[in-house]
Order: sequence, then structure tokens, then C-alpha cells
Amino acid sequence: MEDNDGMKAKPLPASARRAAPTVPSLGAAPAAQAASGEKYDIRPEQSLELLKALHILTREGKLNQDSRRKLKQVYHLFNFIEPLLRTTLAQHADITLVDHGAGKSYLGFILYDLFFKLHALQGRIVGVEVRDELVQRSAQLAQQFGFDGMQFLNLSVAEAGRAAQLPGRIDIVTALHACDTATDDAIAFALKHQVQHMVLVPCCQAELAAVLKAGKSKSVVHNPLAELWRHPIHTREFGSQLTNVLRCLQLEAHGYQVTVTELVGWEHSMKNELIIASRSAQPAHARKSAARLQEVMGQLGLSAMRPRFFTPLMDASVPAALST
Ligand SMILES: C[S@@+](CC[C@H](N)C(=O)[O-])C[C@H]1O[C@@H](n2cnc3c(N)ncnc32)[C@H](O)[C@@H]1O
Repeated sequence: MEDNDGMKAKPLPASARRAAPTVPSLGAAPAAQAASGEKYDIRPEQSLELLKALHILTREGKLNQDSRRKLKQVYHLFNFIEPLLRTTLAQHADITLVDHGAGKSYLGFILYDLFFKLHALQGRIVGVEVRDELVQRSAQLAQQFGFDGMQFLNLSVAEAGRAAQLPGRIDIVTALHACDTATDDAIAFALKHQVQHMVLVPCCQAELAAVLKAGKSKSVVHNPLAELWRHPIHTREFGSQLTNVLRCLQLEAHGYQVTVTELVGWEHSMKNELIIASRSAQPAHARKSAARLQEVMGQLGLSAMRPRFFTPLMDASVPAALST
């Protein structure tokens, strides 16, 4: 299997510019073979050596079950992110994307290889990750492949919000399975930087379930809706679902247009919800969402979570009955 580094970039087909439900299959692309024998297309402009260095492909150019799942997720996510990159690039050449909870930075490297390297050499991808060994390894890989626009910071997402190493203007924030409340910190970071777009695939979130659990006995007596979280497994699942609902309302309250969809089929990941938020000035809608957010938290006994799901219009929008 030959390396395609340096091949001339072909314009991506319309199907790849839209959100597509399957792994993109690009005509003459070389195929990597999964352990199952199934063939997977690699994009013509994609570096096989990079996929090997990321351990997505084996040295022989094959895919195992895990890497097949990861590649499918990242390709699929690329289909959603690419149009956002193109729109932003039309506004300025020095686009910046910050990837929170980057891990081994599969997403960052594939975005750089498939898009930045070809179309946005003045652009930058910053990976934020708490595990230093992953940060070191990613920095080493970026150097090895000459990806000069990639940078990795050994910081928590919350610390990144105050970090001086980041540029003033950040265009896109991504967070793929950033653990627990790291997604909320990524949202707070993105709101602070007034980014144009956020692409979030939340991981498990236990914080809200703990608050529901703490207030359960009181809620069960006074609120028939508490049946939704009376049993422990429901507390966990409802807490997780509700967290994403509150996140979406919070984003809308800050003036973002929000789309929620599925990342890949459930057989690939249990944490499969994809939230895409893009800035759009609709003040009336923002006010309505802010009020609705306060109302939902008030009715479910979650007023303690207001600092987490803060909104710019919080004071004005809190109905008097809910503000105590
Ligand atoms: C499940 S992994 C996902 C990695 C990567 N985004 C991906 O999808 O391949 C979550 C990563 O987030 C990192 N992480 C967890 N909490 C974090 C925080 N508060 N700040 C920065 N990184 C965090 C973990 O160390 C881990 O590498």
C-alpha cells in the first residue's frame, strides 16, 4: 500500500461536504483492510504514514476493530466540521480551532491532514489535554509530519479558559468525548471566546445526576415528574439526557443555533449525541431559551446548577417564582 502524502488535493465531492451517514467512500481511494476483511477507503489526499503513526492502521496498513470504529467516528465528524471550516476560511485565512480533551488527537491530526495542510496553512489547531504524555506524543508527531500549525497544551479545559498561550480569536471549538464536565468547561470556554461554531460529542456526565439524587426524596413527594429519575439507573440516564438538554438551551440562550443529531450508529459508541452550535443573532429566541432553561431547572429542583448553565440574560429572564 503506498503512501499518498504529497498527492494533489482533489476538491471534495458534494456528498462529503454534507453530513453523510456513512464512512465516505471516495472513488479511487486506496483501501485499508479491516481485520474482519472489510475494506475501508482512505481519502486520496490522506497520509497513510500518519494513520500508521496514530496506530489507526497497523504497519501493514490494516485496520483493527477499535481503529475502524475511531476512523469511522472521525471521518463522520469531519463531514460536519469541514463546511464550518470552509465558511470560516472565507472570512479569514488564519482560522483557529481548539480541540478540548484531545486525547491522542486523532481528530486534530485528521482535520489537519485532510483540510488545514491543503487549504489553511495559516490556520491553527490547538489540542488541550490534561495527560502530559499524550501532549508530548502529539507534539512529537506534529513535528515529525511537519504540521507546523498544530499546538498542544497540557492544561485542563477550565485552565485553558485563562491561558495566555491561546490566540485572542478562536473560531471553532470541538470536544469529542471530553470526560464528564469537561464538555461544560469547553462550552464555557467557547462562550467566553465567542466562537463561531462548536462541535460537541459529550461523554458521560454525573454531576447533574448527583444533584437529582440528592434532592430525590423531596422531589418524589412533591413532583410527579420525579418518577423520571426515581430508580438509580433512570437517575443516571435521565441526568445524562437532561444535561445535554440544558446545554442546548444554554447555547441558544447565548445566541447560538443548535442542531442535535447522532454521530454514528449506536453499535459504535454509547456516547453518540452530536451537538453543533453556530452563532446567529436571534435575541428574541435567546431570551426565550434563557427563560425556558431557568424554568426547567426550577421545576426539576436544579436551581443549584444555575452557575453551570449560566446565561447572559439570567437575572432578567428568571421568573420571579423561580428566583428564590
Ligand atoms: C475519552 S478521551 C477522548 C479523546 C479524544 N477526544 C478522542 O475522542 O479520541 C477523553 C480525554 O479527555 C481528557 N480530559 C478529561 N478531562 C479533561 C479536562 N478537564 N481537561 C482536559 N482534558 C481532559 C482525558 O485525559 C482524555 O484524554
